[in-house]
Amino acid sequence: MKTYLVTGGAGFIGTNFIRRSLQVRPGWKIVNLDALTYAGNPASLQDLPEDPRKRYQFVHGDIRDPSLLSQLFSAHAFDGVIHFAAESHVDRSILGPAAFVEANVVGTFHLLEAALKSWRERGEPGGFRFLHVSTDEVYGSLGPRGRFTEKTPYDPSSPYSASKAASDHFVKAYFRTYGFPTIITNCSNNYGPYQFPEKLMPLVILNVMEEKPLPVYGDGKNVRDWLYVIDHCDALVNVLEEGRPGETYNVGGGAERENIEIVHLLCDLLDTRLGRPGEKPSRRLIQFVPDRPGHDRRYAIDAAKIKRELGWHPKHRFEEALEVTVDWYLSHMDWVDSVRTGDYRKWIERQYGRG
Ligand code: NAD
Ligand code: DAU
Repeated sequence: MKTYLVTGGAGFIGTNFIRRSLQVRPGWKIVNLDALTYAGNPASLQDLPEDPRKRYQFVHGDIRDPSLLSQLFSAHAFDGVIHFAAESHVDRSILGPAAFVEANVVGTFHLLEAALKSWRERGEPGGFRFLHVSTDEVYGSLGPRGRFTEKTPYDPSSPYSASKAASDHFVKAYFRTYGFPTIITNCSNNYGPYQFPEKLMPLVILNVMEEKPLPVYGDGKNVRDWLYVIDHCDALVNVLEEGRPGETYNVGGGAERENIEIVHLLCDLLDTRLGRPGEKPSRRLIQFVPDRPGHDRRYAIDAAKIKRELGWHPKHRFEEALEVTVDWYLSHMDWVDSVRTGDYRKWIERQYGRG
């Protein structure tokens, strides 16, 4: 058996990663450390199948807590760490950047310290990996052409992307300075089940269902490069097992779409699913609203390195995985209700000026 520490496993990608990796790697055990912020929901993992080998364990705690980290690293001889825990929403980082410095920079620092100490005490095991899950947003904004490679200089625009860039630099420094076997992945926009409904896709899906306005920032022509979350999770398993320490791997879906295209697709898909009569009726809910400050125009990933070196390719076609995602939300309204807490309602009111 191999035992991994996953941080932030009660969030969107972490939840999908734990489900997927326990399924595709029967020899893995996972300890999930999550502070359960507004974005973390342990209910997302409650229905994992019972396993007599107790392959999944949840620990409620904060990556900024050195004594808890020290206890965890002493109690388990981890084979590696997959670090998802972060504040992840750009709009929230604009209204309150301090939480992003705390979780993303200070939190990553404490985690690196605890992991490095334990790795040294255990005689620097060669197979150990610290996999830092980062974002393409660290590279800044693209014009109409070109794609981000692993060599693109960092140029973050938002407090969120600046905090992720800072954490990436710490991770890289621990490899160069201490020889600690870290790897970084920089991934594009994920979509799929269990995404918190503050992000574009789930927000639009739920607002269409409830016939609420669909807020589109600016002219709606900003481009994101969409990747189905399971393809991202498979890439992470691959990088953990085959990636080279000290390296960065860009991960992306090759599915560039303007935001307005995404909104149109979701409206039309839901009109069909919900049997709404008329000519594309849900598109009438679209409202262009003031732009996000510092809004990056376009992201696009060049994933040639991970494809060439590790043989990873996204397996899900965009249109099909989008349908699966919409159907997941339609059939999991109990999950949606469980995450729409008082905090969620306050956020929607503050950001969009309505309940
Ligand atoms: P999320 O906001 O859905 O989940 C984050 C999780 O981290 C939550 O469960 C939260 O409770 C936990 N957390 C936050 N602060 C913590 C702390 N101090 N200690 C312990 N746990 C804490 O985020 P996500 O969308 O699943 O993203 C996961 C990671 O992947 C992030 O690091 C993000 O930067 C990165 N990423 C996300 C995307 C995307 O499209 N969502 C793309 C590329 C990279
Ligand atoms: O690129 C990877 C990043 O993708 C991750 O690092 C982030 O954690 C993740 O949140 C995501 O960031 P974005 O800012 O791209 O995602 P978001 O869903 O917030 O927005 C997607 C696009 O849609 C973006 O151009 C802003 C726009 N948007 C978003 C919201 C919430 C709107 O037009 N209206 C909205 O209400």
